Amino acid sequence: MNAKSVLILGIESSCDETAAAVVCNGREVLSSVIHSQIDQHAVWGGVVPEIAGRSHLEQIVPVVSRALSEANIEVGQVDAIAVTSRPGLLGSLLIGVTAAKSLAWVNNKTLIDVHHIEAHIYAALMSVVEWDFPYVTLVVSGGHTSLYRSDSPLQHTLLGCTRDDAAGEALDKGAKMLGLPYPGGPSIESAGSTGDPAAYPFKLPLLDRDSLDFSFSGLKTALLYTLKGPGGKREDETLENAGNLSGLCASYEYAITETLAIKCIRACTQTGIPRLLVGGGVARNLRLRARIKEHAEREGIEANFARPEHCTDNAVMVAGLGHARYLAGQCASLDLDVAAR
Ligand code: KG4
Ligand code: ZN
Repeated sequence: MNAKSVLILGIESSCDETAAAVVCNGREVLSSVIHSQIDQHAVWGGVVPEIAGRSHLEQIVPVVSRALSEANIEVGQVDAIAVTSRPGLLGSLLIGVTAAKSLAWVNNKTLIDVHHIEAHIYAALMSVVEWDFPYVTLVVSGGHTSLYRSDSPLQHTLLGCTRDDAAGEALDKGAKMLGLPYPGGPSIESAGSTGDPAAYPFKLPLLDRDSLDFSFSGLKTALLYTLKGPGGKREDETLENAGNLSGLCASYEYAITETLAIKCIRACTQTGIPRLLVGGGVARNLRLRARIKEHAEREGIEANFARPEHCTDNAVMVAGLGHARYLAGQCASLDLDVAAR
């Protein structure tokens, strides 16, 4: 660390991961600690807000302490504390924000509030060595599926978003129908890895010719009817009615990922921006990466993806975006509030 180094402690607790990280100059990861609550929510088939809040409360202090000790620093050495304040589950956000405020107050540190989606975008930017704005950005997670025009790490204009389910939500709900464990994205990915993506020709929900919006709820219904057997006539929805699990997973995943890829290219064409950033939990998906890469190469578009470990919720992206906000003087006061949206 040289004299000009800026150290940011990032804290993330918007959904079901309690995370803390120390990042130097917005790029160099000194530590990243994530406590995942997946096992606690899996038995319920999805995130239970009350369980999430309680787990954050138990984990926040040990997770932050570990992030500091793994970075080999004391909290007094950080320049600022960045925390996700919106959007997310209110009870979960409150735990991270209260911890960040307390640390900032006691140690007389600058507090920085971070928007969770912008942090996912920053995670994708961290994979690019030399930034060349503007970019078209896809954020695809359990709660969001949106396309933006990004003009800086702090400036994003919405181009389109989902009208119903997020892509990750469609995967999570689809997996539940198929009897696969939560979270559904990785379950469907592994069950479908050897399957034929053309086994079940789901119609791609592309909407109007020029639309940059998404809609995945119809695909979910199509999956349900496939599980009701030929003609969708059976009362019960079972896998036995539908046929093979790997083909079904591969086809469902293909329909979602191909739709996302087509919309990314459409956004690049419409805006005339030949550079793409992709982040968010679903960006871990190998089929999505392959579909986007194939389309992008064909169209001469540069596609950049967040590193796999920075796709799902983490605090590195919070500390990273916190650094950009710190440099821009965008700090929060100690009466910082949380917001679900
Ligand atoms: O970004 P994230 O951790 O939380 C939100 O901000 O929503 O994303 C979680 C979502 C879940 O819907 C999960 O099923 C999905 O990301 N996901 C995946 C994969 N890993 C996580 N989807 C597809 N393939 C994956 N490998
Ligand atoms: Zn997220």
